[in-house]
Amino acid sequence: MSPTTSRTHAQAGDIAMLVSAQNKRFLVRLTPDHKLETHRGILPHNDLIGQSWGSRVRSHLDSPFVLIQPTLADLLMETRRNTQIMYPKDIGFILVTMGIGPGQLVIEAGSGSGSFTTALAHAVGPQGRVVSYDIRPEMQRLALKNVSLAGLAERVTFKEKDILAGFDEAGEGAADALFLDVPFPHEYAAQAHAALKPGGSFGSILPTTNQVSTLLVALKRAGFAFIDVCETMLRYYKTVPERLRPTDRMVAHTGYLIFARSVLPEAGELLNQETSRRRGKAMQSEDIEPAEDIEQDEDERA
Ligand SMILES: C[S@@+](CC[C@H](N)C(=O)[O-])C[C@H]1O[C@@H](n2cnc3c(N)ncnc32)[C@H](O)[C@@H]1O
Repeated sequence: MSPTTSRTHAQAGDIAMLVSAQNKRFLVRLTPDHKLETHRGILPHNDLIGQSWGSRVRSHLDSPFVLIQPTLADLLMETRRNTQIMYPKDIGFILVTMGIGPGQLVIEAGSGSGSFTTALAHAVGPQGRVVSYDIRPEMQRLALKNVSLAGLAERVTFKEKDILAGFDEAGEGAADALFLDVPFPHEYAAQAHAALKPGGSFGSILPTTNQVSTLLVALKRAGFAFIDVCETMLRYYKTVPERLRPTDRMVAHTGYLIFARSVLPEAGELLNQETSRRRGKAMQSEDIEPAEDIEQDEDERA
């Protein structure tokens, strides 16, 4: 994430997180002769460069801070935001489910505050590319700022464009994955299908179930298959060993996640036939799988 030359000590060019005794967090890119100004005093970067990660440092007012390297989750949660951002609990699951990894071309809309853009740029690695669309230039400026702070701007191309007009990558059919975090994703299902390579992964996040229903209809119409809808729930615990219990509050709802794969028309027809055949069979047998089928499955597993 940062061009560190030392795994153990903070170096010029590294991104660092300073955490106060009150758990207030500050992100900085360490730059010689720069300084971090906080409500608890000033910390010259020169005093931080060369210090061990995980060490205690002090401001000019003698206030203590812990110097630590931020994780990707820290970066996503601590950067400035002007929009609803995506949260690590959803992002991690999305990246794994969509198979996003090194060397891929991934498209997203909208850029928003660049939270997901940062995670995508991290996942595709130095050989990969993220193309991030947004209709609002001020959002792209903020997203660029946040992606730059993470040291990942070189992996991202920002495009200021209404995706209703389609993605520039369409026709090339080249994208490995495409993610929509926009208010009306159902309006762009056909454009997404055109920009994805055959078999490419589609994903989206929506706050309400009625929006999900509308998107499901649009995805089926546009030629997507293997469609899934789910949500993730994450509960933190108070880390007091003798009174271990969940924290009093949790983020109960961030959004519904919708996943699909872009397939060619003949594959879509086959999957639809197969689904109806299975449904018919299950109804005939009152949803009970015949014993010989179960045995056969076990043989296949062996
Ligand atoms: C919720 S924000 C995205 C947040 C982003 N995923 C993040 O993690 O920071 C939605 C963004 O979609 C953009 N948007 C809405 N409609 C669009 C369209 N038709 N084309 C491109 N961008 C659009 C908005 O300007 C806004 O910045």
